[in-house]
Amino acid sequence: MSSEGLVRLPGLRSVAEFAAASAELGLSLPIDTAESPDTSALAAPIPLYGRQAPNRFCIQPMEGWDGTPDGRPTDLTSRRWERFGRSGAGLIWGCEAVAVRHDGRANPCQLVLRPETAPDLERLLERLLRAYRDATGGDGRPVVGLQLTHSGRYCRPTAWDRPEPRIAANHPLLDARMGLTADYAPVTDGWIRSLIEDYARAAALAQRIGFDFVDLKHCHGYFGHELLGALYRPGAYGGCWENRTRYLRELVDAVRSSAPRLGLAVRFSAFDTVPYMPDPYRSAPGRPGPGIPVPHCHCMPYVYGFGVDRDAPTDIDLTEPARFMSLLSELGIEAANITGGSPYTNPHVQRPALYPPSDGYAPPEDPLVGVARHMHVTRHLRGLAAGPLVVGTAYTYLQDFVPHVAAAAVAQGWTDFVGLGRMVLSYPGLPLDALQGRLERKRVCRTFSDCTTAPRNGLPSGCYPLDERYKRSPEARRLAERKSSARSSR
Ligand SMILES: Cc1cc2nc3c(=O)[nH]c(=O)nc-3n(C[C@H](O)[C@H](O)[C@H](O)COP(=O)(O)O)c2cc1C
Ligand code: SF4
Repeated sequence: MSSEGLVRLPGLRSVAEFAAASAELGLSLPIDTAESPDTSALAAPIPLYGRQAPNRFCIQPMEGWDGTPDGRPTDLTSRRWERFGRSGAGLIWGCEAVAVRHDGRANPCQLVLRPETAPDLERLLERLLRAYRDATGGDGRPVVGLQLTHSGRYCRPTAWDRPEPRIAANHPLLDARMGLTADYAPVTDGWIRSLIEDYARAAALAQRIGFDFVDLKHCHGYFGHELLGALYRPGAYGGCWENRTRYLRELVDAVRSSAPRLGLAVRFSAFDTVPYMPDPYRSAPGRPGPGIPVPHCHCMPYVYGFGVDRDAPTDIDLTEPARFMSLLSELGIEAANITGGSPYTNPHVQRPALYPPSDGYAPPEDPLVGVARHMHVTRHLRGLAAGPLVVGTAYTYLQDFVPHVAAAAVAQGWTDFVGLGRMVLSYPGLPLDALQGRLERKRVCRTFSDCTTAPRNGLPSGCYPLDERYKRSPEARRLAERKSSARSSR
């Protein structure tokens, strides 16, 4: 698709025009078409982890590639957590991915939760809660969790440009993309058991610090997610459904014994597709072509993913994700955050955007289609059974119309919480403003993707175009140089 054909949201003058544009794309989205949407459902408190989440906005986890080499936060990290608190959102999901051990870091600046860093995390939490109180002028508090992670295939613990993958299973397309040979060994079952012990230790610290819950992350191609699709892995953690979900069940047991008062949550990629690449026939110097699926006919049936149709892996199959939701329910997990895809291999699925990151491709579809895909999957999974409360993902691309869609999505039961990622990097006050019927248009995220391009080039993530702190930083100049040299070397 050429980007000329895409709906330009900033150019739409009213919610009626937005509703018409999405109908023209054939999308059925919940939209409150009043210019000032009815936010009463969004503003309704809901019990979670023994507290009352004060409203239905959720801040999604977003790391900043801005910690210290020994896994502690910097001023930039602290500022981000404070801004998450200032958002006034009722649920703060994880703040960011925090590694449970050094070799599991996705980059050498990722936070690590160990006894030595726990006091730093405690200060971050205090700062977030203080910012929430200051912004809301009340003495309530949001429900706050910590996302615990091991980055598996995407580990880069010592240098941002030195991959040190710990794979759950071989994957012909991903291994080839990363330059791994077919005999690159997956981690052993013993390694997985020791990882579970590290999770249990980290969870005990999270409980002591005062987090309400931890997220046992199973999304975006990282370790837990890769295991869910490890049909070809031998041993206790691969192959059949029972084995591929053993890791989660053992994690839950281990964390419950080490941190019995801590709530449990899971963020999982409920759908996926094959890796994408820019169409070489429609690329020009400095301008990647639209994304196309990498050739995968030699990998059929496609037994390498979770939530994909094995016979047509660019299509979704929600049979196993539905079973996963039932498992979460059986395990007594109170909240599920539903996402999809991978930021490395199919970013248009995971974070719909108009402008691609430096290692991406032009949108292969209208990004609104990507938003609708997330919303329909979440609605479907939420509707299956009484289970965990559900957070929906990928609302940022709706831009000025986030309040209209968010209000209708909660009111009509599509989701329990509306998750916001990039939007709060550029506009942390959006949740409170939306609840009060205001919107500062100049702060709305326009999906320029610099917050993804920067870390792909070894720089901290942040909203370089719209947040003055980043806009005026020396890193902004370095980012501009790297973008321009990437354009000329294409
Ligand atoms: C800079 C950046 C960092 C992110 N870090 C994480 C993370 O640490 N953990 C996670 O689960 N998702 C992470 N994500 C994904 C977001 O949580 C979210 O799923 C995604 O941005 C789509 O939501 P949005 O459309 O509201 O931005 C990150 C996204 C961005 C842009
Ligand atoms: S850099 Fe800013 S405007 Fe661009 S996608 Fe990220 S948050 Fe949005």
